[in-house]
Amino acid sequence: MSTRERPLHAVPESQAPPRALDGSHPEKAVALPPGPVLGRLSGTVAFHRDPLSFLRRAQQRFGDIFTVRLATTGPVVVVADPDAAEALAELDTGASSAAAHAGEARRGVLPMASSLSIFGSDEERHRSARARAFPAFAPEHVAARAGKVQAIVDRHLAGWPRGRPTRLLPRMRHLADEVFVREILGVRDQPRASQLADRIGGLMYTPGNPPVTIPGSDQGLLGRAVNAEYRRRRRPIAALLEAEIQARRSSGRRGEGVLALLVEQEPGSDSDALVEELLALLMAAQEPMAAALTWLALSLGSAPEIARRLREEEPGGAYERAVIAESLRLHPPAVGMLRRLQTGITLAGHALAPDTSTMAPMPLLHRDPRSFPDPDRFDPDRHLGRDSGPRTWPFGHGPRSCIAQALARTQLAALARAMGDGLTIRPLGPQPERMVLRATILVPRRSGLVRLS
Ligand code: HEM
Repeated sequence: MSTRERPLHAVPESQAPPRALDGSHPEKAVALPPGPVLGRLSGTVAFHRDPLSFLRRAQQRFGDIFTVRLATTGPVVVVADPDAAEALAELDTGASSAAAHAGEARRGVLPMASSLSIFGSDEERHRSARARAFPAFAPEHVAARAGKVQAIVDRHLAGWPRGRPTRLLPRMRHLADEVFVREILGVRDQPRASQLADRIGGLMYTPGNPPVTIPGSDQGLLGRAVNAEYRRRRRPIAALLEAEIQARRSSGRRGEGVLALLVEQEPGSDSDALVEELLALLMAAQEPMAAALTWLALSLGSAPEIARRLREEEPGGAYERAVIAESLRLHPPAVGMLRRLQTGITLAGHALAPDTSTMAPMPLLHRDPRSFPDPDRFDPDRHLGRDSGPRTWPFGHGPRSCIAQALARTQLAALARAMGDGLTIRPLGPQPERMVLRATILVPRRSGLVRLS
């Protein structure tokens, strides 16, 4: 359904208050929707510590559209009505006239996401970057690699310690990094692939899950220190990527994967720009994938009857898909779809000014009792027996939705099958782990503390 067909929700600027003659936006004076009043730092910490409760409390008090004020990003308007959220996501059409930008919004929260990359760019730059890389993510390309992905998953799981407490999240990061380096970048040189996967693992490492978003280099002393550390960690990865690019260029063999597409389509471009683009892709690839794998393992580990049924059903069948869909509903790795408005719009009855940062919050949308009865229960059956399951957006929506859905689903299916093959994962601790926010990703509070047998 197009944005125009939804009378309730996003109305483009032509119907919103006009710009003033001097080019300024009178609607800038329009007040942001009300929202929780907390100090910016205490609000940020509360949001990161328990994003679901924080957002639920705000929705109960202020309704489906409200403003949260965060220390590192400034005010963000949260849109928790499903139709309005979809309409908002669709505002970034990719055209130069787009009413919202996803890249700009993401760079506001993840300052390291390069404006040259698919993840962090907008308009024409984004369209060409996405089109260039897409063949490496196309479902048929990924399907041809499913066996190799399964082999990587099985090998990792076989090497994990049995019988003692272990944290899944860092192990899943390592697994996701190896799939990315070998099957998406297409690095075949064994030592280089291993070194890259190892170094990449450390790129975004923080001790534990910090309760605030990583600040940008222009955000005070801490921002400058974090940025300097990031640049230090980035150096060896950039050197390995450059070596791979140079090896392909000098041998005249394009090789495989995203790297092949970039080298082939931009033969003259300097490798620094390619490295910048690849590192942002990597950031988009690592954390949500590792979180999704961890949450799936935790969900299946605490629901042995569902794990048993999964073993009995056909691999790749409807029940496997339902289990994955339910895990992504209950624990969507990304906290939201982010868009920065370029024009004034009216959304769910609220006039919003240009330059407003907005977020469609996945945890609220996916646990909305109006759409999901008993919303906090892990119940794959809710996705079965209908023409189309209930609407969820774990991979976002519209032209800026995740490019790697097929790859992500393939990895999740590989994990589900490996867990059906005799591996038991038992979460430790009396309560299920709560979601906490790490930058923009929802991870388990104890990073998935389990015992394997
Ligand atoms: C289960 C795992 C994953 C989840 C849940 C996920 C989720 C998302 C979400 C929510 C977005 C933003 C969508 C929007 O704003 O509408 C996104 C964008 C993106 N993701 Fe993923 N992602 C996953 C894995 C990956 C992987 C493995 C890669 C790369 C190998 C990747 C690459 C990207 C890129 C490049 C974008 C930006 C797309 C664009 O703006 O055109 N993601 N992802």
